[in-house]
Amino acid sequence: MYLSHLALNDFRSYEHTVIEFDTGVTTFIGSNGYGKTNIVEAIGYLSTLSSHRVSSDAALVRQGQQAAVIQARLMQKERPMTLEVEIYAGRANRARINRSLAKPSQLLGIVKSVVFAPEDLRLVRDEPGVRRRFLDELMIQQRPRMAKVRADYEKVLKQRGALLKSLSSKKWRGLPVDEGALEVWDVQLAELGGQIMAERARIISAMRPSIGEYYERVAGGDKTARIDYKASADKELWELPSAYDIYNTDTAASDIESHEAELCSADNNAKRLVEALGRHREKEIERGANLIGPHRDDMILSLATFPAKGYASHGESWSFVLALRLAGWKMLTEEEDQPILILDDVFSELDATRRERLAEIAADVEQVFITAAVDEDVPAGLGGQRYRVTPGNVQVEEER
Ligand SMILES: Nc1ncnc2c1ncn2[C@@H]1O[C@H](COP(=O)(O)OP(=O)(O)O)[C@@H](O)[C@H]1O
Ligand SMILES: [Mg+2]
Repeated sequence: MYLSHLALNDFRSYEHTVIEFDTGVTTFIGSNGYGKTNIVEAIGYLSTLSSHRVSSDAALVRQGQQAAVIQARLMQKERPMTLEVEIYAGRANRARINRSLAKPSQLLGIVKSVVFAPEDLRLVRDEPGVRRRFLDELMIQQRPRMAKVRADYEKVLKQRGALLKSLSSKKWRGLPVDEGALEVWDVQLAELGGQIMAERARIISAMRPSIGEYYERVAGGDKTARIDYKASADKELWELPSAYDIYNTDTAASDIESHEAELCSADNNAKRLVEALGRHREKEIERGANLIGPHRDDMILSLATFPAKGYASHGESWSFVLALRLAGWKMLTEEEDQPILILDDVFSELDATRRERLAEIAADVEQVFITAAVDEDVPAGLGGQRYRVTPGNVQVEEER
């Protein structure tokens, strides 16, 4: 699959722009703030119906306008297809597939893409939320029906959270607390949350071999990179050896593997969640908040015998996030259908070796979008189409 055209209307800084693409590498060059990321953000939006930069859609609509429109033409197995999404600040989007009205969620899974950007260092350094988001973006592209499961889960969390808050205030005021009211929410949380956990565990298990391979390919070093799922529902997991202990203890590896196999079962997770919610009942009421469930889970990144967070050097962290993105890309690849790879302003951040290795990998991808402030940032070996970006305008450069 590749994009042949992208049209932006009132999207971010673009009033009206149409860009044509070939397969292979397309590079956008322009000074900072000129609108390069805006273009690749639009492509990413078609994949996930969300921006990799902002959580609210309001910022995507050009200032002073009511709606932004992204249109794309793509070739899927030699067949042309058109997609369109209208983004409104504060109300539901509208979508069209081949000019017929469609539910926006029907767009999910058609344009698959993976964005690698400088903010990705947060995947190593920040709190669990960014890693959950990383997993969920892959999940939704690969299993579009999970978008609804996740939205329903969010709703359940909201309602259950409100109930916990009111029970909590009753408890603190010494009034009777009806815990039974929580049970119906527990069941829904467990049913939906169990599915999310299973998908995430499956993704982690599928990506693990390529994380190791890509890390080695990018960093070249002697350390092995590994990812594991850490579920808030698992009291036992806290007692398991940490993932990075598998290099030190023989039993840990099989414990962790069998644990992961269990996590891949949604029904099993639902059971565990119900049990865990029971165990944490008092604490949840005391705090008035949802303490257990996939919204509290994490993905553990380890490098040989230590956790990446807090231990990995700057260069190792870059290699790790690059391995994560590339492994995500590989996981979404289905036979001849490769996701689009987007490299947003990353070459200037990488040292010479990592730059070259990333360029080698990118050269084999069906369609790659690269942004950079100056030509020198892009490795010379990467040819392809080049566009000059100036505020509100994108101009093709002569074929090189
Ligand atoms: N909703 C919007 N309406 C108008 N301009 C916007 C909007 N959102 C962002 N911009 C403008 O887009 C520019 C940033 O574009 P960006 O793609 O991030 O630049 P870069 O080329 O550095 O990647 C800024 O000048 C900003 O003011
Ligand atoms: Mg940018």
